[in-house]
Amino acid sequence: MTSTSKLVPTLTVRTDDTLGTISPLLHGHFAEHLGRCVYDGLWVGTGSSIPNMGGWRSDVVAALKKIGVPMLRWPGGCFADSYHWRDGIGPMESRPRTFAESCGINVVETNEAGTHEFIALCRAIGAEPYLAGNVGSGTPQELMDWVHYCNGTADTTLVRERIANGHPESMNVRYWGIGNENWGCGGNYDAAAYAVEYRRFATFVKQMDSRVQAVTCGLDPAWNRTLMEALSGKLGLVDHLSIHTYWGAGHAAEFTEEEYYYILRGDEKVERDVRTAAEMLSEVTEGKKKIGIALDEWGIWHPQARWDCDYEATSTVRDAVAAAGVFDVLHRWCADVSMANIAQIVNVLQALIQTKGADMWLTPTYYAFALYAPHQNGESLRVEWKDAPTRSQEGTGSKTWPESVFDATSAMPLVSASASRKGGALAVSVSNRHISDPIDIVLRFEGAAPSGEARLQTLVSDSPRAANSAGEQDRVTVRETSVSVGGDGAIALTLPPHSIQTLLLG
Ligand code: AHR
Repeated sequence: MTSTSKLVPTLTVRTDDTLGTISPLLHGHFAEHLGRCVYDGLWVGTGSSIPNMGGWRSDVVAALKKIGVPMLRWPGGCFADSYHWRDGIGPMESRPRTFAESCGINVVETNEAGTHEFIALCRAIGAEPYLAGNVGSGTPQELMDWVHYCNGTADTTLVRERIANGHPESMNVRYWGIGNENWGCGGNYDAAAYAVEYRRFATFVKQMDSRVQAVTCGLDPAWNRTLMEALSGKLGLVDHLSIHTYWGAGHAAEFTEEEYYYILRGDEKVERDVRTAAEMLSEVTEGKKKIGIALDEWGIWHPQARWDCDYEATSTVRDAVAAAGVFDVLHRWCADVSMANIAQIVNVLQALIQTKGADMWLTPTYYAFALYAPHQNGESLRVEWKDAPTRSQEGTGSKTWPESVFDATSAMPLVSASASRKGGALAVSVSNRHISDPIDIVLRFEGAAPSGEARLQTLVSDSPRAANSAGEQDRVTVRETSVSVGGDGAIALTLPPHSIQTLLLG
């Protein structure tokens, strides 16, 4: 049931009430050797007829540069705990063909896209590299050697090898995951056993390079507490606690109204997971060290994105509006969340870019990232809604997971927003989550009120089920117009249904 008041909803942006800095890493990405994310999506190889830069698709690289990719996590995912980095260095022709497994897909791994290639991609798109290490089938020595190979500056055999392989300077990789999902695909540990392994691996990784930011693998509240209590005497070894959040409902594109709203409520699960982890971390660390929450895999996992179709699915406007809600959560929690990486950057799951042969198109989720990019490095501002319309969930539709995405007793706000300030410039993003109705709002500012003209960027689409495809690449896109700020510093806006808008002032 939808509850709309006759009063016009008001969004107040408090320009002098800041919640912290929005780290660009909150808009990060994830590329796994899974399905067609890396091979055939990002990587086509130097011999391909598809234009490429050292093997990476030029059109994909150009699109990623446009939105700015602040961080890229690689090579897994579940792939990480069976990956041996030495297989992916040295002359291509002598790299071994190995057998790789992730998420039920077994493939021959050519090892063409290895460490040097990945770092070259990161440099090309301006991303901070984040490497996920192998704990499950690896050794502390192997991971320590990878850190040494990438970051070393001394005249050692490993550093000489890196130089001989074409990279004279340190690769300076700061972020290292100590395994991935080690409660499951990363070795099926229990929390206490993983804590022992974590201490062991992180000790040697940090000994090799004390600037490394190490990420420990979390799961649910019980695992996270056991793990962090076991590490509480060794907080110097931990910088980030990883949590993963996925959810899905119904068909990717032919969904019901209830399924539309179910997906949009994923942000409530993200916020609950973040809040629970933040409270636990503050209790367990007793303020001795700030451990960041690394939401290093998040996104919508449609039920038909399974192993038998390489985890691919149509990506609609619904997914983009849901992503906007997640960004609003991340901006609210920017003091506690240290990074967030959507799963995954190309083709797999909630991809930003999809490819088929030489064709490439941008998904609505790509445009959500574009619309939120102006917030990077801004000071997150407190926003408050008054008289916002809400909707009670009547059901969930079919094939929903997990069951506890939202609190069924609470109504869902049909609008969502976040705002930031960078010097004299303000950015405000607002989404209308109503499936079919426009919503009129008034936007006002408390503190310094802007004046003059503002740029308004809007995700334009004719349906919540709209998607781009090889044949229709611009059905969903972003248009820019301008709006005037009223004499009282307020702005009246009509938000189209299922839309995201970003207003840029100053
Ligand atoms: O992103 C797909 C998979 O989801 C990753 O490999 C794994 O970490 C998670 O379960």
